[in-house]
Amino acid sequence: MPDPATGSAIARVVEPVPRLVGHLAVPGDKSISHRAVLIGAICEGETRITGFGRSADTEATIAAVRALGVEVYEHGRETLRVFGKGLDGLRSPGAPIDCANAGTLVRLIAGILAGQLGEEFELVGDDSLSRRPMGRIAEPLARMGAGVETANGFLPIGIQGRALHGIEYLLPVASAQVKSAVLLAGLYADGPTTVVEPAPTRDHTERMLAAAGANVTVRSASVTVEPPARLSLGEVEVPGDFSSAAPFVVAATLVPGSELHIHGVNLNPRRTGLLAILQRMGANVTTYNRREIGGEPAADLEVHSAPLVGTTVDGDEVPLAIDELPLFALAAACARGESVLRGAAELRAKETDRIEATVDALRALGARARAREDGFSITGVPARLRGGRIESRGDHRLAMLGAVAGVASREGVRIGDAEAVSVSFPGFFEMLDELRRASAVEQPDRR
Ligand code: S3P
Repeated sequence: MPDPATGSAIARVVEPVPRLVGHLAVPGDKSISHRAVLIGAICEGETRITGFGRSADTEATIAAVRALGVEVYEHGRETLRVFGKGLDGLRSPGAPIDCANAGTLVRLIAGILAGQLGEEFELVGDDSLSRRPMGRIAEPLARMGAGVETANGFLPIGIQGRALHGIEYLLPVASAQVKSAVLLAGLYADGPTTVVEPAPTRDHTERMLAAAGANVTVRSASVTVEPPARLSLGEVEVPGDFSSAAPFVVAATLVPGSELHIHGVNLNPRRTGLLAILQRMGANVTTYNRREIGGEPAADLEVHSAPLVGTTVDGDEVPLAIDELPLFALAAACARGESVLRGAAELRAKETDRIEATVDALRALGARARAREDGFSITGVPARLRGGRIESRGDHRLAMLGAVAGVASREGVRIGDAEAVSVSFPGFFEMLDELRRASAVEQPDRR
């Protein structure tokens, strides 16, 4: 993100900390926030969303539904009122819908727009989104009878709303975004639509559709939605985003003498693969105050620093930790022994090629890491990383990786284009600075 004064990307230096001690609460879950606005847009009447995770990505979703004729009122940063148009009430804006950097927005909205009879839409995005594969949604939507055209599998996507058919679709890749596109299009089909998953992925769409009154049947490896007469959500309380808590969990694990509490975090088991991985590595993370927030399991996390040992991650564990795998790499770089990630070729289709970007970043900071076709291998050293300079490449997860590496390093980390964090977590550096200040005065509980 360029500095308005100089036109160049803003860099930040994150200095080491002696320890991290304190309490924090991270913003609302990005995946759930997108879904609450998108599904709210096709509900009857008002959907009130609290704990909304405001970010560049989710603001693109608000702008998109507004362009389609939906009224969205904003009360402060975290409360929204979405006045839905009903299942069939979205109207063509007559101009392209800009999905910016948001993969979740473009894939999910495509499923909804495919069913808006007689309307025509065009979806565009930024350079990064324009390099990401869209054939993976166009193909199943076309099988349902949708009028969907991509530019050789990439943006822009043209959509003509048509009558759709229910299908049974076996996902070729474990992707919640593709699953969700098909399920949302299934709302407009002439019969049930079933998606079969090669491995479990996040299930926020099916949870929210069921909460809105749709008939959703969940089996161990598949989910079926039946076309509803109407949807109505009412209230959605968004829990804290595990993916935004994860950088702090890893930071407190790596920085000796730390004790951190993170409150109100979504602990949907399809999102918390990193916790299982870290615990296997020896991390000291416990949960308390288990409860439900917005129909999702949630709790408070307590993290104490701990020495780590290397581990292997593959197969079904990958989708459960997909956005946190760069942080796993950092933890592995500071663990004793070898760590390996396999079966994660999907990382190459994210905001950047996150296999190359993660390995390059870690090497620049003094770690021993090697890219594999479908993952990476890392030889850890159980000590602080040296530090150095990395580039976010416009990828929010890479910028946060650099910041965590910085606090846990010996010499600090300079992050080029650090403001990329605003894609999912605009206040990230402020929260880290506040924690740094609090840690200087607070002592960990001695129990
Ligand atoms: C998301 C699903 C994941 C994840 C992305 C958000 C979602 O993508 O990486 O950040 O909200 O459904 P894929 O499902 O394509 O792996």
